[in-house]
Amino acid sequence: MKAAVYRTYGPPEVVKLEEIAPPVLRPEDGKRVLIRVHSASTNPFDVLHRSGFLPIRPSNGWLKPKTLVLGIDVAGTIEAIGPEVTRFKLGDAVYGGCFGSHAEFVRAREDALAPLPAGLSFDQAAALPTAAMTALQGLRDVASLQAGQRILINGASGGVGHLAVQIARALGAEVTAVCSGPNGAWVKALGADHVLDYTRVDFTRTGERYDVVYDAVGKRAYFDCTRALTPAGVFVTENPLKVWSLLPQLAWAALTGDKRPRMHLADTNAQDLTFIGALCEKGQLRPVIEQVYPLDQTAATHRHVEAGHTKGKVVIAVRT
Ligand SMILES: NC(=O)c1ccc[n+]([C@@H]2O[C@H](COP(=O)([O-])OP(=O)(O)OC[C@H]3O[C@@H](n4cnc5c(N)ncnc54)[C@H](OP(=O)(O)O)[C@@H]3O)[C@@H](O)[C@H]2O)c1
Repeated sequence: MKAAVYRTYGPPEVVKLEEIAPPVLRPEDGKRVLIRVHSASTNPFDVLHRSGFLPIRPSNGWLKPKTLVLGIDVAGTIEAIGPEVTRFKLGDAVYGGCFGSHAEFVRAREDALAPLPAGLSFDQAAALPTAAMTALQGLRDVASLQAGQRILINGASGGVGHLAVQIARALGAEVTAVCSGPNGAWVKALGADHVLDYTRVDFTRTGERYDVVYDAVGKRAYFDCTRALTPAGVFVTENPLKVWSLLPQLAWAALTGDKRPRMHLADTNAQDLTFIGALCEKGQLRPVIEQVYPLDQTAATHRHVEAGHTKGKVVIAVRT
């Protein structure tokens, strides 16, 4: 099969199209399926792994990557099923999480998949899994966002952020979105009540207070954001490793019993994918795709995401 392969850590150019053996279902893959990949997406996770970011090397290989193919989001059709699979049959259209979706075939656990939401293309569905799980779980489970609360979403135009704006609205919150000026109009069209341009306004110094400050891009320190929190307000960050002062601040908060700063790791699971699919089908959630690339230009998707200014999501059309 054709796959975007990386055999060494380095710049985007280390990702190259190759012909490799397709994955097969093994006897121990009872609850796994083989997916014929129609579409995938590129996430900061893929960029960090490709570049050899130090904290991922203990699990991914110190000197060179243990795996050949990146890609954690998939949309496609079921090509084969393990003997214990109960939820899917051959030919079903699905979307969800896996490892190695930048290829024509990938194996996935059935409990990390859900049926393709009605009305969504494979490209649209592939834009959702990781970013939507992150936003949904970050807002609903970690921040415990309630209807009527005020939330500020920093990084509202990115993969996680643009979905967080829509999910926060669907949960009934009043949303203030922070993005750069040119993105303000379309973020407002996604449902934000208020928009702030981070190049002109520091949201921690406006005097406004929020029940939740959700940093979707991991750009702000907790101690700065306390200025923008109500006394019981919580701060959720999706990337504590991006702000050098954040980990010590989180450690200090834990030591002093301050439970307001929070972080989490998204878990792609069938229940939440189904919830996200239902929001899409009700018209409350719409993934925005900035650009679709063919599989042989996967390196370009890494350059795009690495630049740090993606508007919505970047998708790879594997089967055109
Ligand atoms: N915790 C988890 O399980 C989990 C899961 C997925 C992702 N993540 C992390 O979450 C972060 C976001 O992921 P993503 O896919 O949304 O990334 P992304 O799409 O690459 O984010 C790009 C966005 O960041 C915005 N941005 C850049 N600098 C900014 C600033 N100073 N202030 C506000 N916005 C700024 C950009 O807006 P402009 O173009 O307007 O500047 C752009 O829209 C990443 O760090 C990723 O590693 C964590």
